[in-house]
Amino acid sequence: MKTLQERIQQDGEVLSSQVLKVDAFLNHQVDPVLTMDIGQAFAQRFQGETITKVLTIEASGIHFAMATALALRVPFVYAKKKKAVTQEAVYSVPVHSFTRQETYQISVSQKYLSPDDQILIVDDFLATGAALLGLVELIQQAGARLVGVGAVIEKSFQPGRSLLEQAGVRVESLARIAEMSPGQITFIEEAEE
Ligand code: G4P
Ligand code: NA
Ligand code: NA
Repeated sequence: MKTLQERIQQDGEVLSSQVLKVDAFLNHQVDPVLTMDIGQAFAQRFQGETITKVLTIEASGIHFAMATALALRVPFVYAKKKKAVTQEAVYSVPVHSFTRQETYQISVSQKYLSPDDQILIVDDFLATGAALLGLVELIQQAGARLVGVGAVIEKSFQPGRSLLEQAGVRVESLARIAEMSPGQITFIEEAEE
């Protein structure tokens, strides 16, 4: 997605060869026009598929799931990272964050994922893939069908994409970073959408 790549070049901050800060338009302050365009782009990439629900994980996937779900005219659900105080039956999976060196539990109420669902996962970053593989497992617990994963930014030098593909998952990323260093970001160029 050209406008997204340009925005990353312009306003993204490479903190190291591993970490890209996009707080100016995506992760803290949010550009709503770009966000809605991203939702349209995901809907277009997966056109022809039947999707009944969009799934993401709190917090920074939520606005992209919202934009995508609006484009598709379906609900979206976000997995929670904290235990709910209500005693609801949940699907639940442990996720290990390499970035934070901690394991946390993600969960979704059993009310909002069903075997009839055909689900598109959306998230801001595809990095190690740990969080996204957790979402894939939640869908498996529910007996729902996974249509694919849409990532806004993929760090292609990290293992997330290949882990998902090894699990048979279709991955669509709107900006794929081949490599980066402070002041320099190289994208994997794809055929124009
Ligand atoms: P992941 O590939 O499944 O996302 O797992 P990983 O453990 O590598 O990433 C942990 C968290 O860090 C995730 O956010 C992910 O979106 C974020 N992240 C990974 N790489 C980058 C990066 O280069 N830049 C930025 N800004 N974020 C990155 P999270 O745990 O879901 O937290 P939240 O921010 O959504 O609340
Ligand atoms: Na995230
Ligand atoms: Na994040």
